[in-house]
Amino acid sequence: MDADTKKVILSGITPSGILTIGHLTGALINWVRLQSEYDCYFMIADLHAITVRQNPAELRQRTLDTAAMFLACGISPETSTLFIQSHVPAHSQLAWVLNTFTGMGECSKMTQFKDKSKKHSENVNVGLFAYPILMAADILLYQADLVPVGEDQKQHLELTRNLAQRFNHYYSDTFKMPEPFIPEVGARIMSLQNPTAKMSKSDENKNSTIFLNDKPEEIRNKIKRAVTDSDTVVRYDEENKPGVSNLMQLYSIATGKSFAEIEKQFEGVGYGEFKAEVADKVAEYIRPISERFAEISSNKKYLQEILSFGSDKANKVAMKTLRKVYKKVGLVSF
Ligand code: TYM
Repeated sequence: MDADTKKVILSGITPSGILTIGHLTGALINWVRLQSEYDCYFMIADLHAITVRQNPAELRQRTLDTAAMFLACGISPETSTLFIQSHVPAHSQLAWVLNTFTGMGECSKMTQFKDKSKKHSENVNVGLFAYPILMAADILLYQADLVPVGEDQKQHLELTRNLAQRFNHYYSDTFKMPEPFIPEVGARIMSLQNPTAKMSKSDENKNSTIFLNDKPEEIRNKIKRAVTDSDTVVRYDEENKPGVSNLMQLYSIATGKSFAEIEKQFEGVGYGEFKAEVADKVAEYIRPISERFAEISSNKKYLQEILSFGSDKANKVAMKTLRKVYKKVGLVSF
């Protein structure tokens, strides 16, 4: 199938920290699995990152590191289009139009907005509030059929669909209706130290998070220290055994085993042995990614070539939709 007849995927990651195993299981491994079947656009959402104050030099570095991590995880620059969001001005331009179709209440009820405005109470800016509208623009510009994301983005996808429907209804068919793709396992990896909270790249306690550039020894140590419960049974039960269930998810991803198989394997075995086995398998699973990352991230020229090629392609596709939108709302064409 050629790119014209393939269905389209768009997804992205905000470069606000080093990527974690949650980004891998919630997003990247699914991107890799789907990339030969779909026409894929994968972006580094740098405009999303600036809704929270960033150190400029660090943001630049992390943006390039995020691109390197996409490649290290197996995204093929020959098959997929990789680009930096700010290199495609149509994202901000469509977001402006969509702002005029979004109610204040739709943004203020967003869980992520509520969480982030608590966490960054010194800087609750309009960008943080309007962030899901920019995300809708990201998706709708490419007429995406499918958006592979983790569980925490579900609410943003719902808003995207509502905006698409509202615009299409008010004018005429303009945007494709995107579907979320949320994996059954790994859609919400929890903090190792507080398994009732999501694992996050910005957690201050580094023992909570497995980073994709961690060394195998660091990963082993973090998993061995992970918080579990006072029981001894290895059983999948998110509500009552969130720590053990989280480790089971990681083990399942690293080995391909089902929860039933894992429960059977560790029947009558204590948590110490279970954790040691999870630690080994997860460390080995991440090792090739962190090794490839070290190689790719040192080759800036290669990365910049891929990103420049990607933004040329993304600009062409995005402009096509933006022109359509501008025309529908009554802006004079240019
Ligand atoms: P971000 O950067 O927070 O996360 C990127 C992707 O990784 C998933 N994810 C997780 N999955 C499982 N467990 C976790 N602990 C975990 N942490 C993160 C997220 O669900 C997401 O799929 N706003 C988005 C980026 C974005 C985007 C888009 C995504 C901008 N425009 C358009 C899709 C389509 C964000 O900040 O994701």
